Amino acid sequence: MRTVTLEGRGAFDEWRDAARALLADRVAPDQVRWQLSGEGADLFGAMLPETEPVDVPSGTAVPKGFIEAAEAAICHTDPDRFSLLYRILWRLQAERALLQVSSDPDVSDLVRLIKNVRRDSHKMKAFVRFREVDAVQAGRRRFVAWFEPEHFIVARTAGFFQRRFTDMDWLIATPKGSAAWNGRDLKSSQEPAARPEAEDETDELWRTYFANIFNPARLKIKAMQSEMPKKYWKNMPEASLIPDLIAGAERRVAEMAERQASQPPAFHERLQAQWRGREGEEASVDLPPLERLRHEAAGCTRCPLHCHATQTVFGEGPKDSEIMFVGEQPGDTEDLAGKPFIGPAGRVFDEAVAAAGIDRTQVYVTNAVKHFKYERRGKRRIHMRPDAGEVAHCRWWVAKEIEIIRPRIVVALGATAYLSLTGESRPIAEVRGMPIPMQEGRMLLVTTHPAAILRMPDPDLKARSLEAFRSDLQGVRRLFDTLPAL
Ligand code: URA
Repeated sequence: MRTVTLEGRGAFDEWRDAARALLADRVAPDQVRWQLSGEGADLFGAMLPETEPVDVPSGTAVPKGFIEAAEAAICHTDPDRFSLLYRILWRLQAERALLQVSSDPDVSDLVRLIKNVRRDSHKMKAFVRFREVDAVQAGRRRFVAWFEPEHFIVARTAGFFQRRFTDMDWLIATPKGSAAWNGRDLKSSQEPAARPEAEDETDELWRTYFANIFNPARLKIKAMQSEMPKKYWKNMPEASLIPDLIAGAERRVAEMAERQASQPPAFHERLQAQWRGREGEEASVDLPPLERLRHEAAGCTRCPLHCHATQTVFGEGPKDSEIMFVGEQPGDTEDLAGKPFIGPAGRVFDEAVAAAGIDRTQVYVTNAVKHFKYERRGKRRIHMRPDAGEVAHCRWWVAKEIEIIRPRIVVALGATAYLSLTGESRPIAEVRGMPIPMQEGRMLLVTTHPAAILRMPDPDLKARSLEAFRSDLQGVRRLFDTLPAL
């Protein structure tokens, strides 16, 4: 009998080296006792006699797919994982297609381990919450997070965080190892880490965001708890809101049903008001350029969208803003109030802008299309995406806004804004995050639209997209800090 002692915290190489040596010596699976270091010698095993090597079919090549499967399964906490993998490796020498036999008990055990590990890794990507710690070092902000995975997945999942949060220094500590990134090296350790103490305003941000995206009318408690299992709640700042949100859901749904739908004034009423406004047209000649443009845009009839919208929603912000954000088109709230980004998408935008250290009152915020396009469903007005013709008609106003304000950085929020600013229709993923030169030395940055994040049905994807959005806005901030004045 052979005894193999491993550290066993998800380190595949350690198991592979031991398995290779056993296979070379033709030691059959039932003649190997796998144990973890620190567990002490197995007295019964030690008393067993050494056995003669048995015959194993020649050729130790491993079928494609086994290594990948073993790399995942080894991260499981199941104490039998080492022997299971060795047994499968042994059997693969003769049964080359074993991995395709899903009814085989060893294979189905392997599949179960892999599924658990992947799910744990997926949850880690969705539920790690970073908190900022102490001062910036060498120009980089520093963050820590505490997470409690079920399996030894930290090293395996660290690459995701390196790619997603490449521009900040971070440490993810867990009872099953930790990982850290400093902009150059990604390091991971298998040792249990201590919980770092940190709480910052990001916690409040998560809570505000969660309260905003929580839709009481769509509440399905079981589905929610399966997506966001309770065991993760204690490390997620927003989870403290869940009990109250659930308790108040019924009341909020009743209130929503009672509330009247938003109603813009009838078309003829609005046109008359517009014409009354035009009586002062000549006076607008004396207005400063941006105010004059706003006044002109208020009577815009370049495309049919003006017929059903309440009013033109023009951009807002100081006329010497150095950053200009361009959204898609006003939503229901913006249409009624006449101001951009003040509804649910505006709240997500405000939070991410503030978290990036950008003062919203110092930036110019506008839209590619200045009238709300919607379809009526019962009492509600449902957002409709503007088409290329409507974007083209409105581009004239956006170009004028840029000409007058002369920002150093223009940020396209979503594909419609990108189309308006470049004339190109491209998936955001192809262009996001990289500065694109515009005229006069200004730079264009592209990110997703906050309303697109709010519309995502999958909470994990939503949380990841929000992180990516916030990280893009931090990129805007960094570019702003480095770009020379125009
Ligand atoms: N979405 C936009 O693109 N703009 C707004 O003003 C509001 C929502």
